[in-house]
Amino acid sequence: MGNYTIAVLPGDGIGPEVTDEAIRILDAVASRFGHSFTYQKRLVGVAAIEAEGDAISDASLEVCQRSDAILFGAVGGLPSYDGSHKVKPEQALFKLRKGLQFFANLRPVKPLNSLLSASPIKAEVLRGADLVVVRELTGGLYYGHLEPPVPGKPSEIRQTEQGKSAIDTLLYSEAEIERILRVAFEAARDRKKKVTSVDKANVLSSSVLWRQVANRVAADYPDVTFEHMLVDACAMHLIRKPTNFDVIVTENLFGDILTDEASMLAGSMGMLPSASLGTHETAHGRLGLYEPIHGSAPDIAGQGKANPIAAILSAAMLLQYSLGLKSEAAAIEAAVEQVIQAGYRTEDLREEETKVLKTQEMGQKIAAVLAQ
Ligand code: NAI
Ligand code: MG
Repeated sequence: MGNYTIAVLPGDGIGPEVTDEAIRILDAVASRFGHSFTYQKRLVGVAAIEAEGDAISDASLEVCQRSDAILFGAVGGLPSYDGSHKVKPEQALFKLRKGLQFFANLRPVKPLNSLLSASPIKAEVLRGADLVVVRELTGGLYYGHLEPPVPGKPSEIRQTEQGKSAIDTLLYSEAEIERILRVAFEAARDRKKKVTSVDKANVLSSSVLWRQVANRVAADYPDVTFEHMLVDACAMHLIRKPTNFDVIVTENLFGDILTDEASMLAGSMGMLPSASLGTHETAHGRLGLYEPIHGSAPDIAGQGKANPIAAILSAAMLLQYSLGLKSEAAAIEAAVEQVIQAGYRTEDLREEETKVLKTQEMGQKIAAVLAQ
């Protein structure tokens, strides 16, 4: 039995809809296992810009930092905040990731046996696939644009005599590479004991350094099988034979692209959770940010069509990684599987012979299984 504080940032679009269901499931876990969760709800995204003038206020960041874990929905997607608006809702994510140093993004992909037909990939290719992508989240190509500009990390459009040119910078230090590789090897030890380090070492200097550091770290884990793979080849192998992978570790941009690709193995973006971890310790473990991999889905917001399972499985990851509650996390995963197995679906997974539920109904079904 424990008391835990969870910062909750529902955000925009379907963010609040799926986050409500994740909380419903956390409440079901609390009553079944005798825990107490205190939720600290804060504004983030468009609502925060309108009420507080920033995508996430410093006060909210502080609430997050003092909590045991952070549950995040999604931000962005309202037409009035597209492009030219000065404060963008998506800045909340960069502030959280960079401010709390969440450098490791874990995205597990494990297609459920009863959902294999929902993927565009053949069932016989998918069966048995169970992998996790460990994406570096606070460096690489995405972090040249910070304000004020970081010295040595240009990201800008320049006027030259031949017209405009643009530059982004892919910069990694040995320390940044080493810490993300260690997260991957530690994760592999709890899984199938294989790490695939993905880079573009035939072209990029940053990848040459990445390989050197990866080889050095791998020597500390002789019990884990280790391989390098070029990112373009990895994109192909992921859909050719996903069962060959266990832990994939890679640079920020490569990880972003590969995880959207990998999400199709599971049938829908609405199925995939994520955890972002850093070094900040709490009384119960490591502070983490947990969110579905999807965005605010403005096209389906407010219609009860959103699949809450990615958010619910993110809550399971929260219990496992930040609170050390492994059986509770496993109970959520089992409940999700049981409900899908029984033929219940949300709109994104509609197939013949299935029963399509609204967002809240899906949450209620899963909570009911947990209560049994
Ligand atoms: P999206 O992930 O919001 O939606 C892509 C497609 O998947 C849409 O057709 C949507 O209806 C569907 N979809 C997504 N989640 C679903 C769910 N749970 N159940 C059923 N269907 C689902 O990506 P999009 O449309 O490119 O971006 C919309 C907004 O979200 C943008 O402003 C983007 O910047 C933001 N975004 C925010 C993220 C975050 O907060 N972490 C991540 C990705 C995008
Ligand atoms: Mg993405």
